[in-house]
Amino acid sequence: MFTMKHFLVVLVRATLLLVVLVSVAGAKEKVILDTDMVVLYDDGVAMMMLANHPDIDLLGVTIVPGNTWLSEGTAYALRQLEVLNRTDIPVAIGISYPLRAARYETIQVEREMFGYNSSYTGCFARIEPASYLEVYRKEYRSAPKIKPVDKHAVNFLIDTIKANPGQVTVMPIGPCTNLAIAIRIAPEIIPLIKRVVYMGGAFDVPGNTTPAAEFNWWFDPEAAKMSVRAPFADQLIVGLDVCEKYHFNKKIFERITAVDTPIAKMFKRKYGPEFEKDPNYTRLVWDTIAAAVVIDPALIVEEETRWVDVNSDYGLDYGRSLGYRRQGPAGTQKARILLAIDEKRFWNLMVDLLTK
Ligand code: BDR
Ligand code: CA
Repeated sequence: MFTMKHFLVVLVRATLLLVVLVSVAGAKEKVILDTDMVVLYDDGVAMMMLANHPDIDLLGVTIVPGNTWLSEGTAYALRQLEVLNRTDIPVAIGISYPLRAARYETIQVEREMFGYNSSYTGCFARIEPASYLEVYRKEYRSAPKIKPVDKHAVNFLIDTIKANPGQVTVMPIGPCTNLAIAIRIAPEIIPLIKRVVYMGGAFDVPGNTTPAAEFNWWFDPEAAKMSVRAPFADQLIVGLDVCEKYHFNKKIFERITAVDTPIAKMFKRKYGPEFEKDPNYTRLVWDTIAAAVVIDPALIVEEETRWVDVNSDYGLDYGRSLGYRRQGPAGTQKARILLAIDEKRFWNLMVDLLTK
């Protein structure tokens, strides 16, 4: 017989379930952005999109060398967070150099031996500045209002993931050096990470730095290999296969600069002269696609799951991404490789987040 007691038990359970469902639905997506930061495209814009979205809780920005040295990336991250009025978001400085010893010293010879697909070598093309303060003062003629946290990026990753088990999306949108060292020091964080969303790799298209390799994974192939081989619950790879399909152009620029905001001013300063020189100027926006699919997974139109790996043999294929449709080599894991997004929805999302 269904008594009042039964009724109350059912009521309490239903209420508890509702509370859980509501809190899960209302919970923000927790993200750590691991980045070789630049001003605006592409890492800077990716950070702006995440920081400006109401459903994203950007727990921190960890800095890795790649496009920029740590000192440069840190100065640019601090400055752009100041512009966004998001000085509450912690910035942590990471590992100084890629894992292979003497990479910087031998880079020119290496490029001659393995071939070029572009002349771009990121920070390797410049002398490393002494400090982020020096970079900031030189670029912005003032002192930063905020400073990086007093914790190494690797420890920041480990501690933040442990404090939020099963909830954090880690986004390496630069070389994977910080993540690789974090999972080596504390492998117990691997099952605690909700998912890893990389910008990196080139599976069925040529590399953009050497004929074999995409820049981020070329910069530190050993770290990329250690990362993609970790048994994370979910790995999504936003590589050149998808990124090279979408181009920023004058129309998007005009939509972003139609408002009078600090971001619009930055866009005008950086890209205005390009469009003046050539109205048909376009550029790729790599990392922003990774940010967009984290914010709005419904943007994904096509993806393929493969066992993935990165070649770390020091030779012509150094840094090449490998994707196996059947079982991959021992130790490889499955990952989702992004192949297409809803383009209109993507630009609308970006414009919306940059014009707030
Ligand atoms: C990737 O390399 C970096 O230069 C960009 O920021 C992007 O993450 C593209 O190959
Ligand atoms: Ca990047």
